Amino acid sequence: MNNTSHGSLLMDMEILVVDDCQNERDLLSLYLIKEGYKIRCASTGEEALAAVKSSIPDIILLDIMLPDIEGFEICRRLKSNEITKKIPVIFISAKREGKDIVEGLRKGGVDYIIKPFAKEEVLARVRNQLELRVLLKLHEQSDQELKQSAIKLQETNKTLEEYIDKHEAAQDRMVQTEKLAGVGRLTAGVCHEILNPLNIISGQTQALILERSEDGELIQDLNMIMEEIGRIDKIIDGLLAFSRRGTNQSVLLEVNMELESLLSFLESDMSHDGIKVVRKFAEDLPSIKADSDQLRQVFFNIINNAKYAMGEGGRLTISTEVFVPQGQEKRDDSQNEEGYVCIKISDTGSGIKKENIKKIFEPFFTTKPINTGTGLGLSVCHSIVEQNGGTLDVKSEYGEGTTFIILMPVNNQNDESVEQTSQLFIDQEEELGQEKWDSVKPL
Ligand SMILES: Nc1ncnc2c1ncn2[C@@H]1O[C@H](COP(=O)(O)OP(=O)(O)OP(=O)(O)O)[C@@H](O)[C@H]1O
Ligand SMILES: [Mg+2]
Repeated sequence: MNNTSHGSLLMDMEILVVDDCQNERDLLSLYLIKEGYKIRCASTGEEALAAVKSSIPDIILLDIMLPDIEGFEICRRLKSNEITKKIPVIFISAKREGKDIVEGLRKGGVDYIIKPFAKEEVLARVRNQLELRVLLKLHEQSDQELKQSAIKLQETNKTLEEYIDKHEAAQDRMVQTEKLAGVGRLTAGVCHEILNPLNIISGQTQALILERSEDGELIQDLNMIMEEIGRIDKIIDGLLAFSRRGTNQSVLLEVNMELESLLSFLESDMSHDGIKVVRKFAEDLPSIKADSDQLRQVFFNIINNAKYAMGEGGRLTISTEVFVPQGQEKRDDSQNEEGYVCIKISDTGSGIKKENIKKIFEPFFTTKPINTGTGLGLSVCHSIVEQNGGTLDVKSEYGEGTTFIILMPVNNQNDESVEQTSQLFIDQEEELGQEKWDSVKPL
């Protein structure tokens, strides 16, 4: 702060002169106005308090002996009020005894001038206090600015951290997608190599079963071999689906109809197991472009898992809705549909343990007893949904249930935004308090 701007700040300062003696009021005012200060005057205690109430002065020159309220009492009242306690008060009085000066300072005065006063002394003491007041104001101002900068910095930091998190997650996903693509290619090759000898083993075993039908013990062993061949076959089927060898034949399809036709033959079996199916299908759902067989396979796998997780009873809720992220609403009159079709499949089954939730989309991860599950169902689902331009997410609470969320773009907008949209959808669900479960995005 340089002297010039400092000086100009002093010029704007307002001084309240309180004295019942007109001559002294005039004299003080004259000195101070000549210095460029703004002056207001009061001749009684009541007038002084009213003047402070109407606008806060920067400093008060306060006589002690006033006709109504004593100067010390005025000062006490000012100091006990939050709004006025910071106004510096300089007592100005004919009382010259040490105890009076001490009393004045005790009551909160910042200085004491003895009458008759000398012009230079008054001006110097007033200036000192006003300079202190300017410095205090500047300090408070920069303190405030500093606090605001700190808040802004915190906000920027938070945004940056969120950005880094998102970036890292996207990078992880990319690496994982690359890895899975590599595994997929390798898998397709290996499956092909295994299928040929497996077909030969299967053919030879079946021939032996026919030829040696009279040898009961051998037939039993051969049937066991055939069972195991069937199991290898099932695994290879899954692996081939996972490695995306199937041809994708996208057509425009109605998700509600696909679900309905699948449920029509699964529902009676489920109701036999005590599972109630609840449909919450949105009307006027736009069609999506996808491979119908593949999509049914996804629904089938997820529903089958849900059925298994619910065991002897529960509720399977299947809902469909349109999700249009904020800011992406249709802005023109074009007939093009916007947004995403969201399919949620929720069960009230066992739920997934926290430590397993990250693994369920990995090929061969299963918690089913040996020889029961291949652990390929969900990795195939993920691969199919992604191949059709959508996303697949899961939310689960161990002991309560699981929800799978499939987001399929309308208009087949097969771009990167689908990943972000699925996160937006999950965030929105959480905000609405609909889902508070552990969630994971398949990598
Ligand atoms: N709805 C669900 N509730 C609880 N756990 C589930 C659910 N869906 C999947 N899981 C868990 O994810 C694992 C992997 O599922 P995935 O469908 O990939 O294989 P699987 O069901 O074990 O085997 P397969 O699909 O060959 O029968 C399951 O073993 C189970 O632990
Ligand atoms: Mg499964």
